[in-house]
Amino acid sequence: MKMGKVIGLTYDLKSDRPLTPDDPIDANAELDTMETVEFIMSALKSGGHRVVPIGNVHNLLRQIDELDVDIVLNICEGHAGRNRESQVPLILEMKGIPFVGSDALTMGITLDKIAAKKCFIADGIPTPRYFNAYSTDNLEKLNTIGYPLIVKARYEGTSKGLSEQSRVEDFPGLKRQVELINKRYKQAALVEKFIRGTEFTVPVLGNENPQAMPVSQIAIDGSVELGDKFYTFPRVVNENAVRYLCPPRITKELEKKLQDLAVRAYQSVDCRDLGRVDFRVDAEGNLYVLEINPLPSLAKKDVFNIFPQVMETTYEAIINTIVNFALKRYGMLKDSSKGQQPFIKLNRGTGILHQ
Ligand SMILES: Nc1ncnc2c1ncn2[C@@H]1O[C@H](COP(=O)(O)OP(=O)(O)O)[C@@H](O)[C@H]1O
Ligand SMILES: [Mg+2]
Repeated sequence: MKMGKVIGLTYDLKSDRPLTPDDPIDANAELDTMETVEFIMSALKSGGHRVVPIGNVHNLLRQIDELDVDIVLNICEGHAGRNRESQVPLILEMKGIPFVGSDALTMGITLDKIAAKKCFIADGIPTPRYFNAYSTDNLEKLNTIGYPLIVKARYEGTSKGLSEQSRVEDFPGLKRQVELINKRYKQAALVEKFIRGTEFTVPVLGNENPQAMPVSQIAIDGSVELGDKFYTFPRVVNENAVRYLCPPRITKELEKKLQDLAVRAYQSVDCRDLGRVDFRVDAEGNLYVLEINPLPSLAKKDVFNIFPQVMETTYEAIINTIVNFALKRYGMLKDSSKGQQPFIKLNRGTGILHQ
């Protein structure tokens, strides 16, 4: 009996979007490298699947009528706009092609950090206070939060638009950064209360009963006590500046709070199969969800290749488990799962060091 599936892989390569002189330096920061695509492909092959590399949304459109795949694993970030991550899921849905991961609506809601925050607030999930700045008009009136604030792009990821100057302590700084986001990134700014303290990220997998994976803590310049430091774009690309501690040295209580909130955030925006929730925790121990990523990086250096070790499993097993969650959703796992354990055991919190 045939066990493996034919899996199409959609992805956006940095090399497909070379920078132009008008671009901000981080214009293609979220896009992937061929190394990551090959890393994912070899994980899928180790699960007994055949992989058909498709590439970006334009390649998908060209091939769509001849495409002969059972399911697509999509990691496309798209190029511009609030719906850039929704494009591939929408086309696949329209054509009735099964795919791994969240659908177009969830991609749109989560890419637009303000739309996601509205879902979190409606569901009682703590997230930093914020306001939306389409322009520099009325900023003084809009700011009922006070300082310090952080000024982010509403619908970018990978710390795009974030530099040391994004944390502002006064009105001139606020005005300067809002203007920069409006002009340079051509979108509204999300202005948020700056949370001093520590930072965590928590992967979540699954559907009816989503499970939080081991927590990773962010260390910047060798310290987990971040204070006023945060994840800026140049730091993201400098691997020595930012490190993931997994497992982190946190109490079991904090670990449980992070994992429970991560699952609630995942459910709040209807994530499917996989996601990753980013948190800051302030000095008083209050947790804040910053954002949720339905397209978390699957690159070698990122948390999806780190947390499996804590669970005594592998990146390959995690990737294939994610695919199986999708296959199960579509009712495609029945025959092929005979005699094989399709899901690795997802024990919450395995191996966390407590102090
Ligand atoms: N309200 C905040 N307080 C403190 N730091 C923040 C806040 N929002 C974002 N950051 C910092 O900026 C980084 C990127 O912000 P995030 O909202 O996760 O967007 P993205 O990862 O999509 O660029 C975070 O990892 C964190 O270091
Ligand atoms: Mg983030």
